[in-house]
Amino acid sequence: MQPFVFHNPTEIVFGAGMVDKVGTYAAKQGGKALLVYGRSSVKTTGVYDRVTASLAAAGLSWVDHGGVKSNPVLSHVREGVALAKQEQIDVIVAVGGGSVLDESKAIAAGALYDHDVWDFFVQTKVEKALPLVTVLTLAATGSEMNSGGVVTNEETAQKFNIGSPYLFPKTSILDPELTYTVPADYTAYSAVDAISHIIEGYFTSQDRATPLQDRFVEGLVRTIMESTEQILAQPDHADARATMMWAATWALNGLSTAGIGLYQFPNHMIEHSLSALYDIAHGAGLSIVIPGWMNYAAEKNPAKFAQFGRRVFYCTLEDDVACARFAADALKAWFGTIGSPVTLGEGQIPEEEISAIAENATMLANKWGLKAYTAEVIADILNRCR
Ligand code: NZQ
Ligand code: ZN
Repeated sequence: MQPFVFHNPTEIVFGAGMVDKVGTYAAKQGGKALLVYGRSSVKTTGVYDRVTASLAAAGLSWVDHGGVKSNPVLSHVREGVALAKQEQIDVIVAVGGGSVLDESKAIAAGALYDHDVWDFFVQTKVEKALPLVTVLTLAATGSEMNSGGVVTNEETAQKFNIGSPYLFPKTSILDPELTYTVPADYTAYSAVDAISHIIEGYFTSQDRATPLQDRFVEGLVRTIMESTEQILAQPDHADARATMMWAATWALNGLSTAGIGLYQFPNHMIEHSLSALYDIAHGAGLSIVIPGWMNYAAEKNPAKFAQFGRRVFYCTLEDDVACARFAADALKAWFGTIGSPVTLGEGQIPEEEISAIAENATMLANKWGLKAYTAEVIADILNRCR
């Protein structure tokens, strides 16, 4: 186990009906809110009406900033920043999935900054931000309890991240009933994303003495798989939706990686190029990349992949290399079973553009210090995703 500091300041308010309390929590942060939401779901599901009723009851006024698209874009973030400045906003209330929460984090930082908000995604440190209160409607990214966000710059085709301790939400409302309307495709993509968050650290950490973190990851993966199958069979399965919501939060709130030392996010590095270039859903991009990356990485470190195969997929093969292959195949098969694409072709990603995708991915590889991931290596991995 490696030394670590674990500090997660986000207050979680969890349970059915909790959405109606958002006004109480937002009012602790200020009197005037920027209400950020996506394209249409909050209006069709009635969540918008419940949130605004709660804000009004708590005495808040608000200004709408709707229309956040899945895979949020910089131009819309800039509009939100301008609006927040013009309206002298005190608090951001984000209602939606990871895209809405991520855009809200960028706006929270940009609203207190005199220059272009994209600076934060390239080199500038966030020194302050407006407080953020979130109402999560889709359980996947963990953005509700972490300090990161991802935005695509449409002009440069860069899907880059922002991160700062100032960007942890103050409070996140996790009301599992709000996720009943998430369609089957995004339910599947969410499962892939949450699983990806925990296995990135699990597979890339060099520390072999992390049995607690390992079993935490293996237990979360099994739990996410089980809940997802229950949800796909019955979308309003209360226990499964609640379990999935909390599991996805745990998957990227810093707990599973505390003590494992240095680790990397290579699958995310490659996937972000698929989203940036083809606007594919993040989880769908990951289910294409992960099996190919596992196939590549297991050749270098079969023991950890074999452990995953034995503990998560009950592989009984004695040989580590064979069991590592079994693990990659089993995870890929499960992704396919739940309806997430597992090849570039299934994701409508043109195979002849592998070199261009690899070139794009090197921008993030450089930013994240993933030196081993040259354009050639990334192309090799993508060739295993056919
Ligand atoms: O726009 P609306 O109409 O609201 O529809 C959304 C969107 O089309 C819909 N939706 C959300 N809640 C719903 C619902 N539909 C019915 N009922 C509900 N209750 O779902 C679609 C997808 O929403 P989105 O927010 O894009 O999904 P997700 O939560 O998967 O977020 C994906 C984004 O998060 C980033 C991804 O890269 C991607 O841009 N990530 C953020 C991370 C973080 N901040 O820590 C980490 C992740 O690795 C990831 O990179
Ligand atoms: Zn992710």
